[in-house]
Amino acid sequence: WGAAAHPQRRVVLASPRSFCAGVERAIDIVAEALERYGPPVYVRRQIVHNTFVVADLERRGAVFVEELSEVPDGVPVVLSAHGVAPSVRLEADARGLAVVDATCPLVAKVHTEARRALRDGNTVVFIGHPHHDESEGLMGEDPDPASPRIHLVETPEQAKALEVPDRERVAYLMQTTLAEDEAAQVVDALRTAFPGIGEPPSSDICYATTNRQRAIRDVAAEADVVLVIGSPNSSNSLRLVEVAERAGAAAYLVDGPEQIDPDWLAGAGVIGITAGASAPAQLVEAVVDALAALGPIRREEPAGIEETYRFSLPPMPALPSTKRI
Ligand code: F3S
Repeated sequence: WGAAAHPQRRVVLASPRSFCAGVERAIDIVAEALERYGPPVYVRRQIVHNTFVVADLERRGAVFVEELSEVPDGVPVVLSAHGVAPSVRLEADARGLAVVDATCPLVAKVHTEARRALRDGNTVVFIGHPHHDESEGLMGEDPDPASPRIHLVETPEQAKALEVPDRERVAYLMQTTLAEDEAAQVVDALRTAFPGIGEPPSSDICYATTNRQRAIRDVAAEADVVLVIGSPNSSNSLRLVEVAERAGAAAYLVDGPEQIDPDWLAGAGVIGITAGASAPAQLVEAVVDALAALGPIRREEPAGIEETYRFSLPPMPALPSTKRI
């Protein structure tokens, strides 16, 4: 990679990076369910959006499905960290499935805010990305999608164009993994269009998203290239790529070291690294090792915000007595 031009490249690791408390909890829940019930343990949707994590849990006996209709009767089923529509819980109850809910408590908080805003007679504007599990779950709080009271908007233009029955009774909420700067533009547009719009009591963008974005923004400002470790369906990882690009670096999303194209690194003296909240720390080390194998590096890890969030695990439900124990 042109060692003559760069005798020793700087590899700067953003802090914090990698797993958040919600992802750790979700993975621990599947592990505990496997321990408690034995395999197979069914999981609706990818427990967290990371290829490596999902493959590892599959090896241990987890079976990932898209919908509950694929889950046999009488077995435990884990709901993913991204949250679900109430209809999914109703379906699980009607089927008598033993549900273990791995919804991140910070996603559950947004659902609670949505129900409260609807109960108070508001139209809810949800700032989020369509076709994402979290958005799908939150939109499912709409009591009657035929006459929608929750609207998904992604851009300031969509916010401005929104029509609601009562412009005085509107509240906005957000997906937990949005880019702070982009979400702020949508909020500005909403405040202009609906001056009295209700707001969440505290930001819906979670601490882990915020901290990882701020950390990589600082690193990217001095990096030539940023590698973001994460999977293509991971919203918070994709946002880290965008934040790094806006800070002036060329940024690439990689699931692991094997996806690094050495051409990206040609002429790069400073390489920034981060990992999405669903990407394991061991992949970060594997990427650093891969860079070291290409030529001499100096590893740097500037101190970042210390994260102290920890979420406890839910109780494991009993299985229906006629089924396996
Ligand atoms: Fe929860 Fe935020 Fe992680 S919402 S799952 S703590 S990225």
